[in-house]
Amino acid sequence: MTAEERISKLRTDLDKHNYSYYVLDEPSVPDAEYDRLFNELKALEAEHPHLVTPDSPTQRVGGAALAAFQQIRHEVPMLSLGNAFEEADLREFGRRVTEGLDLPSADLLGEGASVDYSCEPKLDGLAVSLLYRDGQLVQGATRGDGSTGEDISSNVRTIRNVPLKLHGRGWPQVLEVRGEVFISKAGFERLNAAQAEVGGKTFANPRNAAAGSLRQLDSKITASRPLEFCCYGVGQISKPIALSHIDTLQQLKAWGLPISRELRHAAGVEECLAYYRDIGERRNALAYEIDGVVFKVNSLASQRELGFRAREPRWAIAHKFPALEELTEVLDVEFQVGRTGAVTPVARLRPVKVAGVTVSNATLHNMDEIARLDVHIGDTVIIRRAGDVIPQVMQVVLERRPDDARAVQIPHQCPVCGSHVERTQLVKRSKGRTTISEGAVYRCVGRLSCAAQLKQAIIHYVSRRAMDIDGIGEKSVEQLVDEGLIRSPADLYQLTFDQVVALEGFAEVSSNKLLEAIKASQKPTLARFIYALGIPDVGEETAKVLARSLGSLARVQAALPQVLTYLPDIGLEVAHEIHNFFQDPHNQQVIEQLLASGMQLQDEGELAAEFAASTTLAGLIAKLDIASVGPTGAEKLVAKLGSLDAIIAADGIDLRQALSAKPAEAVREFFKDPEHQQLARAIEAQLLDFGMHWSSEKKTAAGLPLAGQTWVLTGSLERMSRDIAKDHLEGLGAKVAGSVSSKTHCVVAGPGAGSKLTKANELGLKVLDEDAFITFLGEHSITL
Ligand code: IVH
Repeated sequence: MTAEERISKLRTDLDKHNYSYYVLDEPSVPDAEYDRLFNELKALEAEHPHLVTPDSPTQRVGGAALAAFQQIRHEVPMLSLGNAFEEADLREFGRRVTEGLDLPSADLLGEGASVDYSCEPKLDGLAVSLLYRDGQLVQGATRGDGSTGEDISSNVRTIRNVPLKLHGRGWPQVLEVRGEVFISKAGFERLNAAQAEVGGKTFANPRNAAAGSLRQLDSKITASRPLEFCCYGVGQISKPIALSHIDTLQQLKAWGLPISRELRHAAGVEECLAYYRDIGERRNALAYEIDGVVFKVNSLASQRELGFRAREPRWAIAHKFPALEELTEVLDVEFQVGRTGAVTPVARLRPVKVAGVTVSNATLHNMDEIARLDVHIGDTVIIRRAGDVIPQVMQVVLERRPDDARAVQIPHQCPVCGSHVERTQLVKRSKGRTTISEGAVYRCVGRLSCAAQLKQAIIHYVSRRAMDIDGIGEKSVEQLVDEGLIRSPADLYQLTFDQVVALEGFAEVSSNKLLEAIKASQKPTLARFIYALGIPDVGEETAKVLARSLGSLARVQAALPQVLTYLPDIGLEVAHEIHNFFQDPHNQQVIEQLLASGMQLQDEGELAAEFAASTTLAGLIAKLDIASVGPTGAEKLVAKLGSLDAIIAADGIDLRQALSAKPAEAVREFFKDPEHQQLARAIEAQLLDFGMHWSSEKKTAAGLPLAGQTWVLTGSLERMSRDIAKDHLEGLGAKVAGSVSSKTHCVVAGPGAGSKLTKANELGLKVLDEDAFITFLGEHSITL
């Protein structure tokens, strides 16, 4: 085969795969195979540049930037649609159609001739026109004012599901198709995340993102955006295609143009309404945003008969859904205090209906968000309520800012308890250096003396996944706190029958039930108890890790941040939150009271074996974050000098035996500071106290059941995180590797396992599924 033939074959194959993927929604080859063919074509074209044609699938990368868009006149004007908002509007439309077509209208029994309609979603993007001559895409244009648009040919060529060349045969020599260019919800999220990462502009909604991406003078930028096209009609055509709208679209689909999967027939207006309701219910679940549905009289002859009124067809209508975005005014910004004391700004809005629900508040998250949006009190803002998401303030309409608009100030005093409000700090430790920067969050320092924090703390404490105290709702918690009956979670255990029965909504039976539930909660597992304490950043998973690894409340309370970072999934930030929480005298007092009230923690026990095995002296040195001393340097130090005392005491000459000049100097500098010496000794003392034995530094693997073995984890595990699985394996002495080879002892394969599992099977290795793995762990006394 000549290069030319191979190129042609590759193009045909890639086009076919594209068609299966984008138009039929049935991928015909795995992505990797597609990429392989694509790269082969790219390489061949690079070798033979004279064989590159504009319709090659490689030509979707965008070209040179333009100075301006050229104007393009639409041979057939691009019209807009009349709108229906209520069912009555649609019935009225149906009557006009029946009358216009001179059909007998529905009689009292509802038996009129029914008009055949097509139903399609109304995609929320931008209308474009694509011109194909002899099956080749030659031009793309925006709608513009309907008569004149802009030439965006280089941009539309970058859209993956726009065919550069039509499939099959029999297309009109001139074929102008029309449709919507849009960005899916997932594409929008991805795009905004990528924009935010590089500090670029984020978009308020998928429609704006699509508009901003399509109207780029630099088509390379367009090429990098997740634009999609969906075809809903034709403009100028040099010969008729079909007799009905739906048949036209089906024919376009056969020629390779993407049409909506939701395209349906409806016999009469009532079936149209059923379609509207059905799509409305599925609106949130659709992959893209729609702002309504479009109904069109299906017969093209009937369309001609009905004709146009002004710039709208009499044969089509858009039945709109309630808008997701509305304009309203920020009446005030108030501050709410949450469980951990975070003071959150909330916008009080002039009430407005958004997607059928009246919205009068929207969270502004934190002061950084207020600065980003530049919200002032008195501003008109765009708010948005998509799906079940809480309403968001998307944008300020600056042109409408009144002269007396006020900037938002963070209060110095907590609006609930009057305590001081402090800005949180972000502490980063790296390479022996600590940098402190200002966080976006402000906190009330009042803790449980602040009624807002106390209420939230109690609500969290009694919640199902925490202490699971049934029969007490938010209202009763508020009452208990407001009446001064409860000042800390420990006071729950002092409540009397008389106090409870006096609460609103409580009678004798419910009071007794609540008191019983409170009593029954006194035997929690250690993990539940830790979670119930409401330590900032400590969710259920982290609570479980703490309980399982350290085994006792006393150890969790005492653990130094550096020691906590030995545990799976606990970073230094969270470790500091945990440590600070337990250092706080007020929190200490609450815990003492809780224990004194008769709390019996259920599964306190030994330190987990894998934790003991995961600590080494070299690991400790590495955790100190001494500049230029990584894990390898730390190991060399330990190998040469043997103990922490020796390392602290070492002079430059001793250190140079283990390390090169720079890190040796860094170690000496570091330990010159008595605080650093003290810290290192405290960590060591604590690890030893918790059951570590460095003297047996080498014991890490030797003597453990999986010593010398290499294991591989692949696929997703459902009952534990991969990190935890890895820790268990390492705790048993195994090495956990990322790839399968003949040296692998065993592969743990969860659902979705791919090439690693295939390779393991090819090599005849031992493979365990998750259940078998859990049984295996059980055999080694590790329970989940
Ligand atoms: S038909 C003469 N069908 O809605 C009929 N339009 O308000 C022209 N749109 O500019 C349009 N989905 O951008 C039609 N399935 C659909 C549509 C649709 C979205 C947009 C299009 C048009 C606007 C009309």
